[in-house]
Amino acid sequence: MKITKAVIPAAGLGTRVLPATKVMPKEMLPIVDKPAIQYIVEEAVQSGITDILIITNRGKGFIEDHFDKAPVLESILERDKKYDLLESISHLDKLANIHYVRQIETKGLGHAISKARMFAGNDPVAVLYGDDVVVGGNAPATKELIDAYGTYGKGVIGIKPVTRKEIVNYSCVKVDHVKDNIFRCTDMIEKPQRDEDVFSLYSILGRCILPPEIFDILDRTPPGAKNEIQLTDAMRELAITSGMTAVEYSGTRYDIGNKFGIMKATIEIGLNHPEIGEEFRQYLYELTNSGILDKPEMLK
Ligand code: UTP
Repeated sequence: MKITKAVIPAAGLGTRVLPATKVMPKEMLPIVDKPAIQYIVEEAVQSGITDILIITNRGKGFIEDHFDKAPVLESILERDKKYDLLESISHLDKLANIHYVRQIETKGLGHAISKARMFAGNDPVAVLYGDDVVVGGNAPATKELIDAYGTYGKGVIGIKPVTRKEIVNYSCVKVDHVKDNIFRCTDMIEKPQRDEDVFSLYSILGRCILPPEIFDILDRTPPGAKNEIQLTDAMRELAITSGMTAVEYSGTRYDIGNKFGIMKATIEIGLNHPEIGEEFRQYLYELTNSGILDKPEMLK
């Protein structure tokens, strides 16, 4: 079955990036010159997605505006013959059919996804977390997961190895290797605190494909870690009952929901940027050679 629908949950409070996210949604924070959510929408589109539901909440109108037309700005750029700049914004309202629904109360990722029931209908949906940007790799991450859904016919999670220290803040999955980057997942837990719950050092990072059964499961999933309705708890039922497929996707993932992740994304994506990449590389060489990394207080 062809997967053409994607859900992007973007209704979190973004408290780890305050004060920047007091007014500005974290999904709109720029990585060089594009807001994070644009990378995510582009990945979905490059994976064959035609319809996207973005889950928002109060104050996230910037996201809707970003994927809308900007008639005044566009006509000024046209008048001034700034065609490159015009091209950089004029396609944004045509990338996909983008729909929006509000999560009125911030009750967790699982609760946010439950708002997509009507949108999904009887179709499987791709889920791309609004604060996980994935770039590079052999194919867009969502495409790698969609291909695995086509091959194995079960819900799919995108996984990556993390450190033992990190895993307590992430999810943890029990997996058996099938072949190459494909695993069978039979259990998972959100934020494992006890040693015996650390099944592996693989975590679900930002991407999954959910079959329509997930919505009934979500409706009966009680609040879990952080007293939030956790998507991992609902997917656990799928993993235990019917099994899920896990794909170690090939791209590089940046968590733009925390300050360090934003810095890494900005530097690494900036280094390859067609307009400023070379100048930025030169700047970084000079900066590292200046000894500033050993004495950052020199800049204070
Ligand atoms: P996070 O837990 O990283 O988002 O959720 P958060 O709540 O904004 O994080 P804090 O406040 O910094 O700890 C992962 C994804 O799920 C969305 C977020 O927007 C993010 O894309 N989310 C989370 C929702 O849509 N609704 C929620 O209730 C919680």
